[in-house]
Amino acid sequence: MTDENRQLPTGIDQAVLDGQAPYHRRALTFYDLVVFRGSAPLFWRCSPRDFEKMYNTSIGAKHLEIGVGTGYLLARTRFPVSNPKITLADLNPATLDFTAERLRFFETTKVVANALEPLPVPDGSHDSAALSFLLHCIPGSLRDKGVAIKHAAAAVRPGGTVFGSTVLSSGVPVTRAGRWLMDDLNAKGVFHNDQDTLADLRAQLEQNFDDFDLVTRGSVALFRARKAT
Ligand SMILES: C[S@@+](CC[C@H](N)C(=O)[O-])C[C@H]1O[C@@H](n2cnc3c(N)ncnc32)[C@H](O)[C@@H]1O
Repeated sequence: MTDENRQLPTGIDQAVLDGQAPYHRRALTFYDLVVFRGSAPLFWRCSPRDFEKMYNTSIGAKHLEIGVGTGYLLARTRFPVSNPKITLADLNPATLDFTAERLRFFETTKVVANALEPLPVPDGSHDSAALSFLLHCIPGSLRDKGVAIKHAAAAVRPGGTVFGSTVLSSGVPVTRAGRWLMDDLNAKGVFHNDQDTLADLRAQLEQNFDDFDLVTRGSVALFRARKAT
């Protein structure tokens, strides 16, 4: 594995830094259980199988993962080649180290990067890019933080794929228990999705791609977009 840009980018808004702060090493130990066995199926009503299916059908041989967490989905993905090249991009070095260690049998490159800024990878350098459960961690409305989708698109080659998922607070069904947890996570600054609507997500995808799929499973939106050739 290789390291790039280990310095935290400077001048980042405190609320944006707060969005990555919960993912310290101890929390990452419990993340898979809490998210993929707990909140996603029980509160957001989206099965982990939906995420795994999206990864298996979207990922390319040279992949950029933006907001890596523990690398749970990457570790379970069937890549189209036996030796994929994976760039891990995150604002939080602890998640990069955790995920690179989990994916130690693959060729990985770690990049400290803010998804709201142009990514420090060459334009068109990847076959696919994923933003999985990232946008609901970033402050602001999707009209602003949707710029992360634009930056992901820039990193992907013509014909490549950008895919991801996010928990929405509006335009999707939210159960009573889901609303309680969402409000609590927003109050604690772990989530920043209280302004996130399905219509705004669709508008961001329309701005960046001619060709995309957007589906919802419970309170989660799953999207897959193809960059024009
Ligand atoms: C909820 S976790 C999602 C992890 C993984 N993609 C998944 O699907 O389980 C969000 C990740 O995004 C990172 N993150 C939060 N804000 C970010 C930002 N502005 N730029 C880059 N990464 C960010 C966090 O450090 C964390 O690793």
